[in-house]
Amino acid sequence: MDRTAAFRTAPIEEIAAWPFRLVHFNLSRFYDDLLHGFHDEVMIPWRTHLCERGFTWQRLAPILFLSTEGAASTYHNDNSHGLVWQVHGSKTFHSYRDPDQRLSAEAAVIGETTGEDPPEHDPADRQSVTMLPGEQLWSHALTPHWVTTESGLAMSVTLSHGGLCRQGHYSERELALRSYWDKNPDEAWTHDLSNVRY
Ligand SMILES: [Fe+2]
Repeated sequence: MDRTAAFRTAPIEEIAAWPFRLVHFNLSRFYDDLLHGFHDEVMIPWRTHLCERGFTWQRLAPILFLSTEGAASTYHNDNSHGLVWQVHGSKTFHSYRDPDQRLSAEAAVIGETTGEDPPEHDPADRQSVTMLPGEQLWSHALTPHWVTTESGLAMSVTLSHGGLCRQGHYSERELALRSYWDKNPDEAWTHDLSNVRY
């Protein structure tokens, strides 16, 4: 909390030299100024693109990530599918070549992944993708991953898709999540809110 308080009042030149990672979830409030054009030029075309291909979803929203060199996310999995879009600088997205060997869908659903660092593993089992500005990747829901910042400053936007479904079909891991929530309706979506995983 001390660090958060200091961050809110320090000069921006000073902050840019700190190691930090920031995540902004509520971006629609900036659509009229800082993110002018984002809704019309990104969100609407992307939603239209998905609709035309038979996709439906329960929520679809952008998340903005800002971080400095050396900053690393936690080791986690998300309940949503993410279209990760590197905008500025460079980051490496790490997961495993065979995630099923690492974490069952059932374990992912109850958030067994979450930790500050990934568990010990053979580097040969890892799949790491370094992203440069303009590059995009798809982060599958409920797949363990972590992200490291490689450049001085990096910014990416993730379009987060909850409940993504194509012509009535969910992905395998999404089905495990649906099934868990059917049995535990009070927990639906709450994992997203209760874990600081980014
Ligand atoms: Fe993530």
